[in-house]
Amino acid sequence: MIVEVSAPSNIALIKYMGKIDSVGNIPTNSSLSWTLNELQTFVRISLREDFVQDQWQPLTRPGLDQVHLNEVSIQRFLNHFKSIKKEWKIEKYFLVESANNFPSDCGLASSASSFAALTKGAVEIFQKFSLRSGIGLVEMAELSRRGSGSSCRSFFHPWALWDKDGVRALEFSSPSLLHQVVVVTDKKKLVSSSEAHRRVSSSPLFKDRVERAEQRLTEIIHALKNQNWRALHKTSWDEFLDMHSLFETSVPPFSYLETASQEILDSAKALWDSSGDGPVVTMDAGANVHFLWRPDQLDQAKKLTQKFANKYRVVSCKEIREVLEV
Ligand code: DP6
Repeated sequence: MIVEVSAPSNIALIKYMGKIDSVGNIPTNSSLSWTLNELQTFVRISLREDFVQDQWQPLTRPGLDQVHLNEVSIQRFLNHFKSIKKEWKIEKYFLVESANNFPSDCGLASSASSFAALTKGAVEIFQKFSLRSGIGLVEMAELSRRGSGSSCRSFFHPWALWDKDGVRALEFSSPSLLHQVVVVTDKKKLVSSSEAHRRVSSSPLFKDRVERAEQRLTEIIHALKNQNWRALHKTSWDEFLDMHSLFETSVPPFSYLETASQEILDSAKALWDSSGDGPVVTMDAGANVHFLWRPDQLDQAKKLTQKFANKYRVVSCKEIREVLEV
């Protein structure tokens, strides 16, 4: 018996950073993300009567990039799988395989898509052995959250809001956005995002963090409703800088920003200053810089990308790739 599923990644404009309870990944503040349907993790789960324990290995299939997990990450992945298995009271062993449809060696392989796909696959295969009735998206997202917080948002699109009432989709009349990320480094992060969540509470800036994040969430939702691109950009910019300030003022401090990140941020800012328009910019707990564009900005996206393309790897959605090839 085999199941194969996939789930998308997501990029947050209001960041999940800091936890009230690390056991269930309960966040200190609400977060809001755009779902990256083009960046998917594929998971295949096979029942193995010959196994005495669950195992993970990279999924190999044409068009998919192999995931390379270290032992700690494999155990974290399998522990999440086992916790769902326990809940379903399944006493069998499985082979879990995973791969991404985006380059896995460029620091993009966030845990969001992989834990969302793992949760989806686990629920799908366990239901075949169990009398338990099926579960809905909300329950599946809650389950996934326990493995990795940001993965709960990957079950909803185009926007996902994760707040004290749980996680759900938000839709605005605005057009579908185009995503690209400038890959500054493919080196493994020295401080994992799980460690960052722990450390930020030591920052003196953390005291008012919830208030700032919730205020920005209100502003972003307002900007999306009113299609106010400039306001969306400004709030997104303030938000990622706020998160990075938390990192830099934690005890001990740490930073993901590299000279190259700054160079890319400066170029985006220069574009906004000179033309009054530009991409919505954000950064996660890493050095890479993400852009979201409106579909009518393809020309601008092309020009800005050409500035970096010979220096850094730029991973772009299909629409931007197409104009770059012309
Ligand atoms: C900076 O979901 O990776 O990307 O719950 O410990 O697995 P764990 O953390 P994770 O945190 C991601 C944080 C972030 C911002 C965000 O996606 O909201």
